[in-house]
This record gives sequence, C-alpha cells and structure tokens, in this order.
Amino acid sequence: MERSFVMVKPDGVKRGLASSIMARFEAKGYRICGAKLMQMSEDLAKTHYAEHKERPFFGELVSFITSGPVFAMVLEGEGVIEEARKMIGKTDPKEAAPGTIRGDYAILKSENIIHGSDSPESAEREISLFFSSEEIIEQSSAANV
Ligand code: PPS
Repeated sequence: MERSFVMVKPDGVKRGLASSIMARFEAKGYRICGAKLMQMSEDLAKTHYAEHKERPFFGELVSFITSGPVFAMVLEGEGVIEEARKMIGKTDPKEAAPGTIRGDYAILKSENIIHGSDSPESAEREISLFFSSEEIIEQSSAANV
C-alpha cells in the first residue's frame, strides 16, 4: 500500500494546527501509520532539503524548519502521495486554492505550514529519514483493531 511523508512545519505547530491538519487526512480516509512531534537538527534539515542546497533561500529554509518542533506523519492509502499534495495545495499560499491546507491556513511562501512528499522516491527517502521501522505501525496488525 502506498505511503507518503507529511510534516506540519514549525509555524503550523506553533499555531496549534497539527491536530486539525492530521484530522483532514484521516477524514479523507488515509491511515496514520506513524506520527511524532520532533525537533529537527540542522543536519537532518540539510539532508531533507538537500536538493535545494544551491537555492538562495536555503539558509532561511534550514533556520525556519529548525526554529521549533515539527509534527511528522506517515500516511498510508491508495494514491496518497499525489492526493496529499492536492490537499496541501500550491507551495506559495497566495496561489493555493481555498479548501487546500495552504490555501486555508497560510499567506507566505516562507511559512507555508506543511510539507508533503512529491514522488514515490521522495516518500521512501523521507520516511526512512524521519522514522525507524519500529515507529511505523501497520494499522491492520495493531493490537486493538
Ligand atoms: S517547489 O514546489 O519545490 O518548486 O517549491 P520551491 O519554491 O522550489 O521551494 C522548495 C521548498 O523550499 C520552501 N521555501 C522556503 N522556505 C523558507 N523560506 C523561504 N524563503 C522559502 N522559499 C521556498 C518551500 O516551501 C519548499 O518546501 P517544502 O517543504 O517542500 O514545501
């Protein structure tokens, strides 16, 4: 079953939006098979965003993403990578449609609330960067279901 990595950024956590955002994905029908509040290290931030290391905003991006805790999630379900990106909306909140997470909760591109994997390769890489295999629970094998 397909999995994606989604992370509420420090601005979203500070504003108390993590649970509402998680609820949107659950309401859509995706399963949460991993979730945790964590403080990203500078090393993890630089590795996660390595593809942007030559971009002018890289320093700002690393300092923003390490400025406070993030809420990291692994979502599971059919087509979740592409669908979660649609639910998240365009990178620049000014271009994100109302009804999307960025369209509803954000104004600035530099504080756009949430990250979601953009391809199966990124999803696999990001999940293994943030979660150990013990932290990912197959819901169908959980004790209470
Ligand atoms: S995209 O969708 O990859 O083309 O977007 P891009 O503009 O290239 O941005 C890549 C990621 O960097 C984030 N970003 C910023 N963060 C902090 N400050 C500034 N100024 C800034 N500019 C861009 C943008 O949200 C993308 O992060 P993710 O986590 O992938 O959304």
